[in-house]
Amino acid sequence: NRPEDQVLVIFGASGDLTKRMLMPSLYELHARQMLPERFVILGTSRTPMSDDEFRLSIRVMLQELKGENNLKGEEVDSFMRKVYYQPFDPENGADELGERVMFLMEENAIPMKVVYYLATPPTSQQAITKYLGRSCLFRVKEKGGWHRIVVEKPFGINLETARTLNNSLLEVFRENEIYRIDHFLGKETVQNILVLRFANQIFESMWNRNYIDYVEIYALESLGIEKRGKYYETAGALRDMVQNHLMQLLAFVAMESPATMEPEVIRDETAKVLRSLRLWTGEDIARNVIRAQYEGGEVKGQTVPGYLQEKDVALDSDTETYVALKVFIDNWRWSNVPFYIYTGKRLKDKRSGVVIHFKSTPHKLFEGQCQGTSCNQLIIRMTPDEGVMLKFGLKMPGGGFKVQQVGMDFLYASLCNNYLPGAYERLLLDAMQGDSMLYTRNDALEASWRFIDPIESYWREHPGKDLLCYAAGSEGPDLTGVWDVLPPVSKEEKN
Ligand code: BG6
Repeated sequence: NRPEDQVLVIFGASGDLTKRMLMPSLYELHARQMLPERFVILGTSRTPMSDDEFRLSIRVMLQELKGENNLKGEEVDSFMRKVYYQPFDPENGADELGERVMFLMEENAIPMKVVYYLATPPTSQQAITKYLGRSCLFRVKEKGGWHRIVVEKPFGINLETARTLNNSLLEVFRENEIYRIDHFLGKETVQNILVLRFANQIFESMWNRNYIDYVEIYALESLGIEKRGKYYETAGALRDMVQNHLMQLLAFVAMESPATMEPEVIRDETAKVLRSLRLWTGEDIARNVIRAQYEGGEVKGQTVPGYLQEKDVALDSDTETYVALKVFIDNWRWSNVPFYIYTGKRLKDKRSGVVIHFKSTPHKLFEGQCQGTSCNQLIIRMTPDEGVMLKFGLKMPGGGFKVQQVGMDFLYASLCNNYLPGAYERLLLDAMQGDSMLYTRNDALEASWRFIDPIESYWREHPGKDLLCYAAGSEGPDLTGVWDVLPPVSKEEKN
């Protein structure tokens, strides 16, 4: 079903996210006729630009991202007819933006239904929210319409700033009108974790401390910080990837079985997991959280600079570009099962996923059985080759009883020929349809900051302490002897 007719206002329209992710996703939805029948996209930012200049910048970006030959001229033209632009400064008293939205709704016979998308840095989020509270747009609800707001990460830089931002949002919007986006939840494979777990008795009955030895969750990237030095210096890998994406992933892997698939029920379960995280303090942090930074090296045949040589990065920066954490979820199901979380930039290749390591058999009968750990692992691959692999031991052909670990591999792409929407496509559609299941609720977000804040404070109090380094293009810092479990390396997923 197509969403009902509405207007989408994108704040931060001249920025990278709008051009690289939002507009291409909206174009894809348009090409597949999944957008509302009557629909307007109004881009806005401080940059002065006309409608046509904005359209041209989007057209150029679409051509660059999708390749000119893959675009149908007519389709691009009809998409562009939905796109408008209005310069806007939230500090300025005038309400030109509000008036423009009202005008576009009237002109296109669209009822008073608006989604605002904040693709802006956190510094302007509060000013925009305040503006929305005093603009004529605030009246859409009185006129029988609705409004929703989608807020991009980072949602604050710690618990305190997240609360301040949330309070300012709550002055204008109700909690159920606030959509805190985490694009990892828009990925098919992440949603599939719920189905894999709760549609299969064989996995779910073993999904606990009795059968699981430890769990690994990883998101490794070969990309560097691109041109985002300024942002990355205030974020680091912990805030950029762990506080949001990997915590949400952890919650999906560890949550209790929800009673229904209602958004609030799923979000209750997510929040419960994050509230059960064991909080590390003091020296526990040094033992359980490893940080590292990349040096120059070679990634996919290209020589790349080290982090300290990147633009907008301080020469003595101790910002982590890699982080490895050992975390525990202190509840009945997961008592003392370690969850290892890894993420980093400028690594050998892009790989993300979850590995469930099952315990070994209590008695070992066969030669070669369970070298190191158990023969049984369930690998949920997000990138590359989205899919699921189950590993188990089988007899090697020939005499004796020698065990060989084998893998049963399922590739998600082979499931059907249906078009798989990208994460942003899925989440944009959900927001337009008022489905908040895959959006982060405030209590989960606060619980996640409560875990992250003491680590960030410890690092601030101990500048550069135990900061490891790794060469760009490598598998990351050498953790031999640091932890008993070593991070998954490229060969791990290959059979
Ligand atoms: C973003 C981070 O949220 O996620 C980036 O800010 C990171 O630093 C990106 O590269 C990873 O997302 P994906 O979908 O490419 O795995």
